[in-house]
Amino acid sequence: MNRRRRVYEGKAKILYEGPEPGTLVQHFKDDATAFNNKKHDKIEGKGVLNNRISEYLFQKLGEIGVPTHFIKRLNMREQLIREVEIIPLEVVIRNVAAGSLSTRLGVDEGTMLPRSIVEFYYKSDELNDPLVTEEHITAFGWATPPELETVMSLALRINDFLSGLFLGVGIRLVDFKCEFGRLWEGEQMRIVLADEISPDCCRLWDIETQDKLDKDRFRRDMGGLVEAYQEVARRLGLHVDNPTRTRSGPVLVQSK
Ligand SMILES: Nc1ncnc2c1ncn2[C@@H]1O[C@H](COP(=O)(O)OP(=O)(O)OP(=O)(O)O)[C@@H](O)[C@H]1O
Ligand SMILES: [Mg+2]
Repeated sequence: MNRRRRVYEGKAKILYEGPEPGTLVQHFKDDATAFNNKKHDKIEGKGVLNNRISEYLFQKLGEIGVPTHFIKRLNMREQLIREVEIIPLEVVIRNVAAGSLSTRLGVDEGTMLPRSIVEFYYKSDELNDPLVTEEHITAFGWATPPELETVMSLALRINDFLSGLFLGVGIRLVDFKCEFGRLWEGEQMRIVLADEISPDCCRLWDIETQDKLDKDRFRRDMGGLVEAYQEVARRLGLHVDNPTRTRSGPVLVQSK
């Protein structure tokens, strides 16, 4: 079906060459992976929901002046983005203790953190995305000190905005991961938000019930992943009719 040039295939997405130079098509797959691909499954409908949720969040962030790679959604699974030079860091912002922070530092899951904490992980599957400090990042040249400063302040702005947005629909933004890239416009370079922000890379807990509405349902074998992502979309006011539908066109009606 796809005759476009595939630029990269990752665990959750495929990047294709876009229609114009400097653009890419980001395709959201249904694959779910955890623990650096040790756990892997296909969850029908996940890609469609992530595409829609990420589109919405990037659009809203754009509206408050956060520069992003997002151009427009193309169809149920694909969006047009600007190609950037990815800074090889996973930037994690935490508001409540959970996951690796709880395990590593012995802080009970669910403990409110005294302030938002930003962490950096070096993007390397071979090394299992290790936690790194600003010293490592600048010494090894993954980002310059001013770039890192921009990344930090953007990450905190994104966190403030998304925390409020989710709170408004009864969801606690416990933590999330984001990626940034360098966008060149002639001689000028801007740091922009790239990749995706979706329940795959956030921890989202229902304010009332503490129910998990994110990928921890997959990591922890809880089931109900698509239903949870659908609930997030529903609360954000997004109508994703039938995320498991793969093709548009006539639907076969059985006659009896
Ligand atoms: N605007 C962009 N320009 C170029 N690359 C991008 C852009 N946005 C995201 N990417 C990269 O595209 C890939 C998306 O695929 P996916 O998320 O499936 O990768 P992954 O399996 O998580 O692997 P990785 O370790 O590379 O992130 C990621 O490598 C991400 O860094
Ligand atoms: Mg990824």
